[in-house]
Amino acid sequence: MKRILTGLQPSGKLHLGNYFSVMRKMIKYQDNFDLFLFIANLHSLTSISSRDDLINNTYDAVADFLALGLDPDKSTFWIQSDVPEVTELTWYLSNYITVNQLSLAHSYKDKISKGLQPNASLFIYPILMAADILAFDSNVVPVGKDQKQHLEFTRDMAGRFNQDYGDVFVIPEPEIDEDSAVIPGTDGQKMSKSYKNTINLFDSEKDLKKAVMSIVSDSAGIDEAKDPDTSTIFAIYSLFLNETETQNLRTRFLTPGLRYGDIKKELLECIMEYFQPYRKKREEIISNKDYIESVLKKGKEKAGWIAQKNLEKVRSALGIKRIS
Ligand code: ADP
Ligand code: TRP
Repeated sequence: MKRILTGLQPSGKLHLGNYFSVMRKMIKYQDNFDLFLFIANLHSLTSISSRDDLINNTYDAVADFLALGLDPDKSTFWIQSDVPEVTELTWYLSNYITVNQLSLAHSYKDKISKGLQPNASLFIYPILMAADILAFDSNVVPVGKDQKQHLEFTRDMAGRFNQDYGDVFVIPEPEIDEDSAVIPGTDGQKMSKSYKNTINLFDSEKDLKKAVMSIVSDSAGIDEAKDPDTSTIFAIYSLFLNETETQNLRTRFLTPGLRYGDIKKELLECIMEYFQPYRKKREEIISNKDYIESVLKKGKEKAGWIAQKNLEKVRSALGIKRIS
């Protein structure tokens, strides 16, 4: 069975953009693949400097995944920092990528242009990501388009290492949904924690209402037809609808008389209804710290065992001997 691995940063509350692009897909994969999924808290240190935020966001992300149906018996689910072998591997791999190559990383350049400090951690972020992938013999790595280049770096590092030392690493294949739509946020830009335009999966009804009511709309009057193809409300609402329902919504947009306020109220109800069963489950999970700990312990053991075995292979190839 192919091993499919991905990581999600706990850099804020998870939102509809995360859910409809990555989370839902990963949860489905647990039935057909050997799913490896982790919460990338070490990567989040590049953007979070509050202890409480890091702890809370990490636990929230774990609870979100479990509530949404991730089954710890079918998958391996852990927190990145619980398998410290990846940080050791980061050092070894850093000998297989040049400063020049790293300086061409789009993601690094984007983050700097958004005002993040050009810390060394941000610069070597792709090496830690490569270690995450290579430590676990991953065959397939599903990521968003923004991570495509990081996968190329990973394949490069693994290839160069293997050239020097034999077939130590499995070379992973990226799985990039080229035509997956970018889900817009309340302001019409890409929904993103860094733009403060998110609709979060498990916010209170009051906060969700505030977010939904703030979705941008054009100035078309009630008596005018509305354009569904440029409407942010339509784009978000249709995430919850099947084909026929989307078609009906389209017709309503094109028929004069539609009030955006009414559609927003419907959308809010729809979000509440869709996540209601998960919300209940999440409350149970979050109040059961022992359960969360036991899931994470199991994940840490399974992922750790594989990483330890692989690191022994890597050390032995490199000539790093440890006194036992
Ligand atoms: P954010 O931009 O909120 O910080 P992340 O970068 O942590 O989100 O994204 C985690 C995953 O979710 C990535 O694979 C990314 O491609 C996907 N994703 C995030 N926001 C969106 C969106 N608005 N539309 C589609 N996919 C998204
Ligand atoms: N960099 C990824 C993102 O921001 C998160 C991530 C960290 C990751 N390590 C990974 C994704 C390994 C896939 C594989 O979305």
